[in-house]
Amino acid sequence: MFREGDWILIRYGEKRYLRRLDPADSLNVRKDVLRFRDVVGKPEGVRIGRFEVFRPTLEEMVLLGFTRRTQIIYPKDAFFIALKLGLGKDSRVLEFGTGSGALCAVLASVAGEVWTYEEVEEFHRTAKENLSRFGLGKNVRFYLGDFLRADVPEGFFDAVFVDVKDPVPYLEKVHSVLKDGSPAGFLLPTANQVSDLLKSLGDLFGGVEVLEILVRYYKTVPERFRPEDTMVGHTAYLVFCRKIRS
Ligand SMILES: C[S@@+](CC[C@H](N)C(=O)[O-])C[C@H]1O[C@@H](n2cnc3c(N)ncnc32)[C@H](O)[C@@H]1O
Repeated sequence: MFREGDWILIRYGEKRYLRRLDPADSLNVRKDVLRFRDVVGKPEGVRIGRFEVFRPTLEEMVLLGFTRRTQIIYPKDAFFIALKLGLGKDSRVLEFGTGSGALCAVLASVAGEVWTYEEVEEFHRTAKENLSRFGLGKNVRFYLGDFLRADVPEGFFDAVFVDVKDPVPYLEKVHSVLKDGSPAGFLLPTANQVSDLLKSLGDLFGGVEVLEILVRYYKTVPERFRPEDTMVGHTAYLVFCRKIRS
């Protein structure tokens, strides 16, 4: 049942809105009005006129509710990253840089513990606020600083994810903080960055894979069921590998 102060996800046709449930508030779309006082006390998942009201998912919180001060890792990539890193409730995962915290929120929902490093104070603060606004991140340690200078124990992490412009200078340190055989992942927007990384993985990492994820949404009209007219052509390449010793 919805209570005052909850986050609510409102759908109106194709449009989506994320709002706090303040009974004094309302949402106007075209000629329709949703008065929030009519939502309080209703079941979670309710149709009122042409509006549908749900509790937001993590994907909706990240896409609609996170302040973006940096490029973010989109949920389509983030959830697959969590899978490829083999995360579970017993895992301790490291990521850098934190950026706006979009990937961090997903890692935190899957892993036992997340350590995240960000060298720009504004982004560090934004990420913390983004997660805490939605009650996320109780298992996250946010560090302000350059990961290269971070004092991190060797062989300490079950997985590492790297989202910085040039990951090559960090490879030895990533290798040293990982447990033997554990996965590392990298996100890179351009193909030449991927080539540079592949050339540098050298003897430190094995089991290398490169992929990208394309998502195509469909119109949900039964009589005209077909793909949406436009789609996102490219966000980034994902590279996965595992710590190895020769
Ligand atoms: C593209 S953003 C990361 C976005 C993040 N994955 C998300 O989903 O919101 C890259 C971030 O890495 C940070 N960064 C770059 N080099 C770093 C380093 N050596 N240590 C910590 N943070 C670093 C940048 O300041 C920037 O905020």
